Amino acid sequence: MTIDSLDSLIDNVTLLRNSAHIFLGEGSNTIFTENYDGLIVKNLLKGIHINEDDDYFHLNVASGENWHELVVRCMQQQIYGFENLALIPGTVGASPIQNIGAYGVEIERFVQSVEFLDLKTGMLGHFNAKECEFAYRDSRFKREPGIRVITSVNFAIPKRNIVVANYGPLAVLDAPTPEQIFDTVIHTRQSKLPDPSVLGNAGSFFKNPTVEAAQFALLQKQHPDIVHYSAPEGRVKIPAAWLIDQLGFKGKRLGGIGCHEHQALVLVNYGNGTGDELISLARDITQQVYDRYHILLEHEVRLIDKHGPMQL
Ligand code: EPU
Repeated sequence: MTIDSLDSLIDNVTLLRNSAHIFLGEGSNTIFTENYDGLIVKNLLKGIHINEDDDYFHLNVASGENWHELVVRCMQQQIYGFENLALIPGTVGASPIQNIGAYGVEIERFVQSVEFLDLKTGMLGHFNAKECEFAYRDSRFKREPGIRVITSVNFAIPKRNIVVANYGPLAVLDAPTPEQIFDTVIHTRQSKLPDPSVLGNAGSFFKNPTVEAAQFALLQKQHPDIVHYSAPEGRVKIPAAWLIDQLGFKGKRLGGIGCHEHQALVLVNYGNGTGDELISLARDITQQVYDRYHILLEHEVRLIDKHGPMQL
C-alpha cells in the first residue's frame, strides 16, 4: 500500500498495528533476501517548507521527499550545508534513521527535530535532536524499529555554515566553495560507487568498525600498514573496505553477487544474484575478517527475509 498524506496514515493506524508490515522510502538501503510475507508500505509523503530568521534557515521536509533533490534545491537557493551529502540515495525520512553521513558530515549536525506517528498510541509526536540519540549510522529510530513512522524532519541550517573539507578528495581543494564541494562529492561518488539504478547495490554493506586502543596497537604490530582514523571515546576506526580488500575479496563473485571492483565495501547484484548468494558472500567476508583481525563486522544495510528484518 502507499501513504501519501498524514490523514491516510492516521486512517490506517489500526491496520498497521495489527499486521506485520515494513515501511519503505525508496528502498535504497534495504535488501530483500526473499519475498516478504507481510505488508509493504511505501512512503509518498511530500512537501518542503523553508523559513528563515537572522541566523538560520529552517526546513520542514516531508519524509517521502527524495534526499538528493532536497540537496540540489538547497544549493540552488544558496542554503549551504548539505553539499557533502550530495547523491546519497533514498528519502529524507530515512536520513535520521541511520544518521546518513559522507565526506566528513553526518545529518545529525542539522537535525532540529523529527516528527512521527507513534503506532502504539496513534498519536503524532516528535523527538528533538538529543532524543533521537544519534550515533555513527545509528539512532533511536533504528534501534527501536517498527513503532514509529517518521512523517517529517525539521532541519536548522546556520546561515554562516562552515564548509567541511577535510575528508580525502576534499582535502586537496584550496578554500573550496560549497558548490565545489558539491561537484567534487558528486564526481567522487560517481567514480567509486556504482549507481544503484545501473548495478543493484545498497551502498556500504557493512559499518566501519571501531576497536579499543589496546586492540588497535596489537593489530598495527601485525599489520603495520593498517588504515585507521581516530574515533570517539579513544577508540580507533578501521575502514571495513580495507579489511575486506586485504583479504582479496574486491572484484570476487559468488554466482550473481559480487564485491564491487572499485569499492570493497559495496556488494553488487550483477542481475541474477539471489538472497542466498548474498548472505553466503556476506557471511564468508564476516568470518574471514574475524579470523584474521578478530573484528566482528556489522551489516549496515537493512536485510529483510520472508518474516521481516533479519540479521546475518
Ligand atoms: N579502501 C580500501 N579498499 C577499497 C576501498 C577503500 O582499502 O576498495 C580504504 C582506503 O584506504 C580508503 C578507506 O578504505 O581510504 C575508506 O574508503 P572510502 O573513503 O571509500 O570510505 P568508506 O569508509 O568505505 C564511508 C561510508 C560511505 C561514504 C564514504 C565517504 C560507511 C559504512 N560508509 O565509506 O557511505 O560515502 O565513507 O564518506 O561509513 C553508505 O553508507 O552507504 C556509504 C556509501
